[in-house]
Amino acid sequence: MPAEGATPVTIETQTTPPRAVGGVGVVIEAVCKEFRARGGPVRALDGMCLRAAPGEVVAVVGPSGCGKTTLLELICGLMAADTGTVSCDPAVLMPQRDLLLPWLGALDNAALALRVRGLSRDDARAAAAPWLERFGLKGFERARPAQLSGGMRQRVSFLRSLLAGKPVLALDEPFAALDAITRAEMQGWLARVLDAEPRTVVLVTHDVEEAVLLADRVIVMSPRPGRVVRELPVDLPRPRRRTEPGIVSAREAILEALGVRA
Ligand SMILES: Nc1ncnc2c1ncn2[C@@H]1O[C@H](COP(=O)(O)OP(=O)(O)O)[C@@H](O)[C@H]1O
Ligand SMILES: [Mg+2]
Repeated sequence: MPAEGATPVTIETQTTPPRAVGGVGVVIEAVCKEFRARGGPVRALDGMCLRAAPGEVVAVVGPSGCGKTTLLELICGLMAADTGTVSCDPAVLMPQRDLLLPWLGALDNAALALRVRGLSRDDARAAAAPWLERFGLKGFERARPAQLSGGMRQRVSFLRSLLAGKPVLALDEPFAALDAITRAEMQGWLARVLDAEPRTVVLVTHDVEEAVLLADRVIVMSPRPGRVVRELPVDLPRPRRRTEPGIVSAREAILEALGVRA
């Protein structure tokens, strides 16, 4: 059985579904979004701005309830802003929970994205199978989600998002539910995947270290109603190591912007 997390990622891009990174990326300007709730209106976002250039990885960190998931849903066109403008290349959401179908094996769960795009079951399976191998899931094609570890489930879920063939990936705290060791492995894994297979990425995370390890730029949001309080470019070469001085100081700057004192 393959060792989880230890898989080098080599991706042959000619088999990749549309790899388009060009376009506008993500442009969010002065967006406000309010929800009607029982106790009165809840303003989730207030004057939120965010830009991700095509191919750029932007991480978004902020306190719970500050509107991060709302922001991703706006980017993916799952809801509309009250005011302001949202202009994005087509985007797919990888939600916080993996939402794999429990009765399908890993291959069919991943291939679902291709079936939605109109491929027959056999064609979708044939196209998804090499990806499973590249994602370290060879031998687990028929394993149902309950038979997979948390890290493996997240890889299947990520693969399904990737196979949706959209130029923008909106990742909602993708590793939050994993234990610390698996999470660290998955962060390295995602860095390698994005290196081989660039996409415009908006990565929402609670994990400040994850943000600086993976992103070209980190956006820090205020408590609700969410808006930007700090924007920090992470101008460090890849692959990055969590112990290197640039990573440590970027992490400290973000914690400070979040009002967290070590
Ligand atoms: N559909 C909804 N109806 C009412 N309130 C909502 C809805 N979605 C989100 N909210 C509220 O909007 C705020 C922002 O939510 P969310 O974007 O999920 O925050 P985050 O992802 O940063 O934790 C929260 O106070 C949440 O309770
Ligand atoms: Mg959320």
